[in-house]
Amino acid sequence: MVVILDFGSQYSELIARRIRETQVYSEVISYRTTAEQLKLLNPKGIILSGGPSSVYDDRAPQCDPEIWNLGIPVLGVCYGMQLMVQQLGGEVIKAKKAEYGKAEILIDDPIDLLTNVEEGSIMWMSHGDSCERLPTGFELLAHTENTPCAAIADHQRKLYGVQFHPEVVHSVGGLALIRNFVYHICACQPTWTTEAFVEEAIRNIRARVGDKKVLLALSGGVDSSTLAFLLHRAIGDRLTCMFIDQGFMRKLEPERLVTLFKDQFHIKVEYVMARERFINAIAGVTDPEVKRKRIGAEFIRVFESESKRLGPFDYLAQGTLYPDVIESADTNVDPQTGERVAVKIKSHHNVGGLPKDLQFKLVEPLRKLFKDEVRKVGRSIGLPEEIVQRQPFPGPGLAIRIIGEVTAERLNILRDADLIVRQEVNKQGLYHKLWQAFAVLLADVNSVGVMGDQRTYAHPIVLRCVSSEDGMTADWSKVPYEFLEIVSNRIVNEVKGVNRVVYDITSKPPGTIEWE
Ligand code: XMP
Repeated sequence: MVVILDFGSQYSELIARRIRETQVYSEVISYRTTAEQLKLLNPKGIILSGGPSSVYDDRAPQCDPEIWNLGIPVLGVCYGMQLMVQQLGGEVIKAKKAEYGKAEILIDDPIDLLTNVEEGSIMWMSHGDSCERLPTGFELLAHTENTPCAAIADHQRKLYGVQFHPEVVHSVGGLALIRNFVYHICACQPTWTTEAFVEEAIRNIRARVGDKKVLLALSGGVDSSTLAFLLHRAIGDRLTCMFIDQGFMRKLEPERLVTLFKDQFHIKVEYVMARERFINAIAGVTDPEVKRKRIGAEFIRVFESESKRLGPFDYLAQGTLYPDVIESADTNVDPQTGERVAVKIKSHHNVGGLPKDLQFKLVEPLRKLFKDEVRKVGRSIGLPEEIVQRQPFPGPGLAIRIIGEVTAERLNILRDADLIVRQEVNKQGLYHKLWQAFAVLLADVNSVGVMGDQRTYAHPIVLRCVSSEDGMTADWSKVPYEFLEIVSNRIVNEVKGVNRVVYDITSKPPGTIEWE
């Protein structure tokens, strides 16, 4: 295992993902982890992430200086390198010129860390400070036009630093450098494979659950579906999936999901019809946060009463993923106060987010995985591509795509428009190119139109198509005009209550992907 000490960089998770791509397991942990604690974790390598601070800020986060003496190889990235330099007696200063974006690496010593990294490779830089003088024992491996120390090493102590970000895709030789670090410098073995994970997960589930019964809230998304497959493989019919139909899913989706799981996969699914309860719970509500909270609360109420009715169950399976585990850890650091920061934009609701105080013991077999790893696991245990590749769909469903009060009639309008979007996205081969493509109904807006010689006064539909890596940032997609034309024509002609279609050309940030 390689651990990443997180100093608050937006890229810390990405470093972990890149390392795992080399089939070496990695975890993100707090920068406050002491050398003693690290010894217990026994990693083969340590990476210090970047971060928003300057090493000479009063409250700049520091790592335990004993880390340098553990005999474990360390790679400092950006802030991590500057910290290494400063703590070991070198000098870091404010750079004459801050460097953001691409830079060409000029290699001074192509040894170990930089093997197979070509002279002139493009690497991604993002720093305002710069290392001015190296600590004793260090030598220069590479520089750039603006940065005299772009890569450094103390080979004796196996301490390395890079000013650039090898983890981002724009860094051309970045993966080669990471491979050099994990394989040649840390001597890791490529043991983190999907097959090994599945085997171990099944063993662990069996050992934990024994002959007891497990309940899983199924949504049809890739996480809960993969979880269902994994558990079914481990404990067969002692798994019961509960699917709560809130009434906010897309056209024909609930039926399709239940048929797939029951008839095709032979997994026990209890279908709970709760449409009326949910729509009543948000009757008259227009505020997005109130809507989200009421749906979340209703979900818990339904889940609790239904699990009593169907149970008893000993365990609850949750689709907690690794990013949820990291987020609850002590990671995001305010450079001014040294405190953890998290700004809540939306209250997320999904079936993995049931509160911990339900009277169940938990099984969370996906806790170690990133989303792309869940997809690989799902695929390897037979989950069909239509679920593996499914575009994300928010827990509160269409309710947060109706801007205004949610009513049965408005849901029907949106469902019909959404179906047309999905059909045309598929026809044009856009499904896998887009992170998401969907319709939003502006239910409180009416505009004037003309159809046949008649005046119309009806709602607009917003078409939202975005591309994204992880949903954290997103670009509005430059979809073909022809696609826009067909979707617009079809929606206006086929969906009663809609007389106008607009295309959302806002990226995230500053917009969010969903409208509520
Ligand atoms: P935003 O709108 O915050 O969405 O840019 C980012 C991604 O998250 C999805 N999303 C949700 N997923 N429960 C979920 O499971 C939710 O409450 C929820 N809200 C947003 C959204 O579809 C996008 O992919």
